[in-house]
Amino acid sequence: MNILVINGPNLNLLGERNPKIYGNETLEELMMWLENSTVGKNHQFKFYQSNHEGEIIDMLHDERDWSQGIIINAGAYSHYSYAIRDAIEAINVFTVNVHLSDIQNREKFRKNDVISEVCKKTIFGKGRFVYLEALKFLSNKNHESN
Ligand code: DQA
Repeated sequence: MNILVINGPNLNLLGERNPKIYGNETLEELMMWLENSTVGKNHQFKFYQSNHEGEIIDMLHDERDWSQGIIINAGAYSHYSYAIRDAIEAINVFTVNVHLSDIQNREKFRKNDVISEVCKKTIFGKGRFVYLEALKFLSNKNHESN
């Protein structure tokens, strides 16, 4: 299965950014761990990170035909970007929304996630395991449709 993984703003600083909240791993380490996991070995990946809303939308558009599943952590854009929300809705690719941290138990503004309603599932608060759980969810979806 072709899986597009998109990480949004500030996630390029994983490893040094608030390690108590986001852990000590870099984004590259985390994505390699996902790709090399037992379930990851059955899939093809494209990994993208951008700090820019328009670039994230362009990635969603450009990779919509290639992608059979998408995992997205849109960072703070998750809380207010209707443009990213609309892009996910428009491309109609099975998408899982993830957050490393427990967005329901942090600052009030993080509780609202405008992207979640156009995603098949939202997984948060389990650190790097949110990506693995999202991947397993996509894999199971694939088996069901075959
Ligand atoms: C995040 C949570 C967001 O609130 C925050 O702005 C991020 C990371 C997470 O993975 O926990 O940048 O999406």
